[in-house]
Amino acid sequence: MQIIPIAGGKGGVGKSLLSVNLSIALAQSGKKVVLADLDLGGSNLHMMLGSGKNASGIGSWLTRTDVEFEDIIIDSEYPNLRFIPGDAEIPGLANITAGQKRSLIKKIYSLEADFVVLDLGAGTSFNTLDFFLTSGCGIIVTSPALTATLNAYLFLKNVIFRMITTSFRGKSPAKEYIDKLAAKGDGLQRVYIPGLLEKLEELDPKKFADFEKKFFKFKPMLVMNMIDNPKDSVKAEKIKRSCEQYLGIEMEYLGVIFRDHLQDVALNSRLPIIKYKPESVISMAVYRITDRIIQKSLEDNNMLDIQTLEETYQNAEMEAEMDFDYKQQDLEAMFHSGALTKGELIETVKSQQFEISALKKENNLLKHKLLKASQQGFKL
Ligand SMILES: Nc1ncnc2c1ncn2[C@@H]1O[C@H](COP(=O)(O)OP(=O)(O)O)[C@@H](O)[C@H]1O
Ligand SMILES: [Mg+2]
Repeated sequence: MQIIPIAGGKGGVGKSLLSVNLSIALAQSGKKVVLADLDLGGSNLHMMLGSGKNASGIGSWLTRTDVEFEDIIIDSEYPNLRFIPGDAEIPGLANITAGQKRSLIKKIYSLEADFVVLDLGAGTSFNTLDFFLTSGCGIIVTSPALTATLNAYLFLKNVIFRMITTSFRGKSPAKEYIDKLAAKGDGLQRVYIPGLLEKLEELDPKKFADFEKKFFKFKPMLVMNMIDNPKDSVKAEKIKRSCEQYLGIEMEYLGVIFRDHLQDVALNSRLPIIKYKPESVISMAVYRITDRIIQKSLEDNNMLDIQTLEETYQNAEMEAEMDFDYKQQDLEAMFHSGALTKGELIETVKSQQFEISALKKENNLLKHKLLKASQQGFKL
C-alpha cells in the first residue's frame, strides 16, 4: 500500500482538486483507492467529490465512542474508490491531540488498498507535517505565484525540521542544540539545513545515522497547478534548485496543470472535472500525473537516478507547451461558437505569439549555452 499525502503550505492552490481527481483516476485504472479528508477543520472534499451530504467522518470517530473507524469509510460512486470524510461540523477538530493523531495514523497504515490519498490542509501545524511524513513521497502542490512557491518551500523546510526534531529525542547535546535553535523566535527561518545536519552529525553520529536513513527516503514530488503560460513551468525548477541547495533534498517534477475555466463549471455542477470532462486540459494533466505515480510505484523509489530526475523537469516543460497548443485549439472553438469576439481572439493570439517568440529566444540561448558548455567539456 502506498500513501500519497497532498500538501502545499498555501490554501487555494489546488490540493483538494488534485486529491479528488487523482484518486478517481487511480481507481479508474483498477487500483484500490481510499481518499481521506485530513484537512481537519476545513473539510470540503465531500463537496468536490460530489458525495452529497457531509457524512460523519474522522471528527465523529475521534469524539464518539459508538463510531468505529470502519463505519466512516464509505463507498463512493466510483468503483474501487472509498472515501473517509473529515467532518467539518465538529469544532476544534483542527487541533486534535498528539494521541488522537497517532491513532488516526495507525488506522491509515492499516487500510487495505493499493493507494491511500490524503488531502491535507494549508499551513505547517505539527499535525499536517506528520500526516505528510506518513510517506516518503508526498506531493507538494503550488501555483506559480511567488507567495505559493515560497510557501511550498517553507513547508518542506518545516517538514525536514520536524524530521530532525523527532529523530533526536532524549537528552543529548544534539537535542540541546536543536532546542536552542527552536527557542529563538525566527530560529527556524534562519537555519541553514545542510549546516545544521553537519553539526548534528558531529554531536550525535549514532542518532544521525538513523535520521539519515529516513532522510534519504524522503523524495517529495512537485505539481505546479493553475499555470496560465508554459513559461510558468520553469518556476518549478527554481523550487527544485532551492530545495537541493538549502534543504539537501531531491524533488521529482510530476507535471503542470493549466488553469481552466471548465473547473468552475464542473464545481458548480458538483462534479469532479475528470468525470465532468475527461478530455479537458486539467483531466489530461491529472491522467498524466496518475500514470507517472503508477509507473513510479512499480519501480524501486531509490532507483530514481539524477538523470531521470532532470528529465522529469524537461518533460514537464514540453507537456506545458503541448497543453498550451491544446488550449489554443479551445480558443478557436470558442471563437467559432461565438463565445469570444474577434477582437478578443486577436488580442489573445497576439499575446500568445509574443510569449512564443520569447520562449524561442530563450530556448536558442539555452541551446547555445549547452553547446558551448559541451565544447568546453570536450576540450578538457
Ligand atoms: N487548474 C485549475 N483551474 C481552475 N480552477 C482551479 C484549478 N485548480 C484549482 N482550482 C479552483 O481553485 C480553488 C481552490 O482549489 P482547492 O483544490 O480547493 O485548493 P486547496 O485544497 O489547495 O485549498 C477551487 O475553487 C478550485 O476549483
Ligand atoms: Mg483543500
